[in-house]
Amino acid sequence: MTIPLQTSIAKEVNLQQHIAIGKKIYDRSFGRGCGACHDISSNPQLVELITAKQLDKDVFNNVLENGKNAMPKATAAIMAVGPVVKANYNKYQAFDAVYTFLEYQGNQRQVSESDVIDIPADDETNAFIITLNADLSFTIPRLEYFDQTGNRLFFEVDFVFSPEENRLLFEPVSIRELGSADNGEQTILLNGDLSFEISFLKYIAPEGEQHNFQVEFSFFPSTEKLLFQVINLTEI
Ligand code: HEC
Repeated sequence: MTIPLQTSIAKEVNLQQHIAIGKKIYDRSFGRGCGACHDISSNPQLVELITAKQLDKDVFNNVLENGKNAMPKATAAIMAVGPVVKANYNKYQAFDAVYTFLEYQGNQRQVSESDVIDIPADDETNAFIITLNADLSFTIPRLEYFDQTGNRLFFEVDFVFSPEENRLLFEPVSIRELGSADNGEQTILLNGDLSFEISFLKYIAPEGEQHNFQVEFSFFPSTEKLLFQVINLTEI
């Protein structure tokens, strides 16, 4: 079943997929999801309000966009949720997904439970997701490099954080050759000048909040170690 969305950019989406995206937004935005606050009985009970027709979509959208007292503005947090990025939704389509999910929770949308497709964790975005660990180490499972003779080589590389002065530097501490066969998996390209970019670096802060970054690295000349410097860091 597909439904037309009432948004500035009309888009036909599969209802089950739309609800699944709404659920991901509800569960994941702001790191701990909307439920971190709304599952507390003294805060507005969204499913009940929608079921009782006391929260229409215009009010809903307006509160998400502008916030309301202790309710934070939510657009940026919602737009950063992986499945929203992947679906290429605009903010109104994303708001509609949460609203539709809440309607579904309150049985206002008749879709059977088994019809709601689960979006697997490894299919959150088209981007190659690299995880930044708590100690700021990370692993690139497939780094792709063309050597001077044009041979394509693949490596798995572990990086550790190795700051110096005011520079964000990372050192590859373990490099494993994976040969030259292309197995079709996603890679991160190491350019000829040894710069590279991670378009989706995921970091879970100690308080549990998720931050996603786009990071550019360049080779940092050093006599003692092989180092890469962060030259551009953007939160997405
Ligand atoms: C930090 C806690 C917190 C988070 C996270 C949060 N909310 Fe809220 N929200 C509130 C509080 C508190 C209110 C009541 C604000 C008021 O009326 O003064 C509220 C109000 C609302 C309202 C308006 C209800 C009404 O009847 O006016 C909507 C809609 C809403 N939140 C949706 C969401 C959605 C969707 C998310 C997740 C994307 C979310 N909220 C995340 C705390 C939160």
